Amino acid sequence: MTHPDWEPPLAALAAALADAGHLRSKQWIEAFAATPRHLFTPEVIVRTSDGYRTLSGDVPATRQEWLNTVYADESLVVQDKPHAAGHRMPSGEPLRVPTSSSTMPSLMARMLEALDVGDDMRVLEIGTGTGYNSALLSHRLGDHNVVSIDIDPDLTAQAAPRLVQLGYTPTLLAGDGAAGAPGHDPFDRIIATAAVSEIPLAWIRQLKPGGKILANLRGELAGGTLCLLSKEDEEDEVIGPVLPLGGHFMWLRPDLADPHRPHEHTPDARRGTSSRSTTSLPPADVPVDDGGFRFLLQLQLHAVQALWRGPAFDPPGRAERDAVIVSTADGSRAEAFTSPEPSKRYRVAQTGSRRLWDTVEATRRLFDDLNQPTPDKFGVVANDSTQFVWFGNDDDWHRWPLPLI
Ligand SMILES: C[S@@+](CC[C@H](N)C(=O)[O-])C[C@H]1O[C@@H](n2cnc3c(N)ncnc32)[C@H](O)[C@@H]1O
Repeated sequence: MTHPDWEPPLAALAAALADAGHLRSKQWIEAFAATPRHLFTPEVIVRTSDGYRTLSGDVPATRQEWLNTVYADESLVVQDKPHAAGHRMPSGEPLRVPTSSSTMPSLMARMLEALDVGDDMRVLEIGTGTGYNSALLSHRLGDHNVVSIDIDPDLTAQAAPRLVQLGYTPTLLAGDGAAGAPGHDPFDRIIATAAVSEIPLAWIRQLKPGGKILANLRGELAGGTLCLLSKEDEEDEVIGPVLPLGGHFMWLRPDLADPHRPHEHTPDARRGTSSRSTTSLPPADVPVDDGGFRFLLQLQLHAVQALWRGPAFDPPGRAERDAVIVSTADGSRAEAFTSPEPSKRYRVAQTGSRRLWDTVEATRRLFDDLNQPTPDKFGVVANDSTQFVWFGNDDDWHRWPLPLI
């Protein structure tokens, strides 16, 4: 029996991923062409200008729009929760935080190619979500070689029958993937589809010698840093590059009930003191939107939360003025105003326990000294006693400790 409504878009998606070079190997092209994404995404939540809509394959009025959406190269939110701080959208509707999604197919394709699997390798996936990626892995490696874990038992319970429809019964576990899958190890590969700010030691320990971990090492400023880390021998150490792949994931959450990272709650901004100073560095010269700079600042300024250019209240002028603003999770904040004083210097206001602007300036200089590197010029080392990001060569070498937040 053919399915005229979903077979053509499924074939078109697989072909488009191959044509664009996201898929390169015959095996992965076949896996994508044989895995109907709509089976794993019976309902998706789309954000509109004033709220949210759910598209369902079971509702005739939205079926075509749903099919177009699930076979587009887009990430699809399948589960969300209200924002804990009670934030609202401009329309008044409560803001929601996505807690599970089906990853954008082109990113999934690039990651699976980068994972560098061989036939019959045993793989652990962190973040089962819809089960779509478990199906791709099961097609490529055999379901007996696939273990997948999600913190939300509802999600693994929903994923299991979808996988069965395709004839797959990989091992699905409900629990905190930060602990890996003890009792199901060792693995040749671990692929995380939820982001971490350091590499969980359990993953390193549960990897075979020669094994690899592909994970999104994420901070708040620069998320798109996928690392491919190899364990060379029996020693519990992995080392490898940040890949030039882009793409970032929702956080690996320590607590199912809390859709936020702990620091996303309102920090205590009253701690510490305020100070005013001036600087000769024009704040507008800080490349707030440059991915490489944001990545480097995230390494230099532990737990940095935000860096942006926008209006800030300037008490001496009693008005809002254009500024570059940086903040950290402990509530520290710096505002550097972009228009010069008569002295040709720029005013800086800093509050909280840390003097953030000083680090922003030092990072601006370092960024130039290092020739404005993109994230994929950095590497990562993680073992049972230390974890760090590094840059350079034997003669000129820098390192920054993890975690990033
Ligand atoms: C981007 S989704 C995964 C997409 C999935 N691989 C797919 O193909 O649909 C991220 C998933 O990570 C899960 N997750 C978050 N924290 C976790 C944790 N501590 N352990 C395991 N899974 C976690 C979420 O519940 C969510 O389903």
